[in-house]
Amino acid sequence: MSAHEHGVRTPPGAGRAGVTAVVTAVRPAGSHDVVNLVVPEDDARWSAARPGQIVVRPIDPAAGRLLPEVFWLGGVTVDEIHGTSIELVLPLERETSVGERLRLLGPFGRGFAPPSQPVDALLVAHEGGAVPMRWLVEILRARGCAVHVILSASDAQHQMDLAHLRRHARTVILALPEDLTATVDRALDDPVIDPAVVYAAAPVPALRQIASSAAARGRSTRVAALDLAAGVVCGTGLCGACDLDVHDGRSASVLRPCLEGPVVPGEWLLRGEAG
Ligand code: FES
Repeated sequence: MSAHEHGVRTPPGAGRAGVTAVVTAVRPAGSHDVVNLVVPEDDARWSAARPGQIVVRPIDPAAGRLLPEVFWLGGVTVDEIHGTSIELVLPLERETSVGERLRLLGPFGRGFAPPSQPVDALLVAHEGGAVPMRWLVEILRARGCAVHVILSASDAQHQMDLAHLRRHARTVILALPEDLTATVDRALDDPVIDPAVVYAAAPVPALRQIASSAAARGRSTRVAALDLAAGVVCGTGLCGACDLDVHDGRSASVLRPCLEGPVVPGEWLLRGEAG
């Protein structure tokens, strides 16, 4: 896959009516709710979705919502009896309630592909970046990978659903944002962790440092290069707010992560920065 092979930028939300998802369960987790929603069963996009993909709640001027809301997809469960359920992690102050109906577009983007062989993996996330990692850790563990997790947050309330991660990961290390990259360096050098691959979802400057540290030690990196807390406005490829300089090894280009990522090799960010 190269940056250019992503092809013509056709906004994926264009022409899609979206689905109406119905909230079936709400579980508080720190400053957020873990929310389960049922989606129409005949839509294969949901059952094929991966951690690292996003969903968009489009604007609704009639309801006073003038900007779209963009969320990490936090999980998908396909069940013959209960149908297809998805999981989102929504802010507590939103007061999501069972029975609420949400119109959603997606899932969009390119998610994290699990390794073909069981390997030791290090997952790194900052605050909301933990949402795809909660899901990825389950997938990796089911494939026989030993998974270690590093989470950073500015305060404990922003650590997402730690109990879930502690159930599935071999180790969970907490860090302050300013210590995140140094903590990753120590983990990369720790013979107990010794990851073959690093998956990361964090602000882009931290992703560049993590990818650099991993590359210096011969480890491969996959990063979700989309900071939902900072740059994302539309989530559907229309506004350009998430554009990022990258280099795929053949040429430099500007990547639109919400449309052409968000998950890309970490090395693309290193060469993009150098270019
Ligand atoms: S957020 Fe608008 S183009 Fe990516």
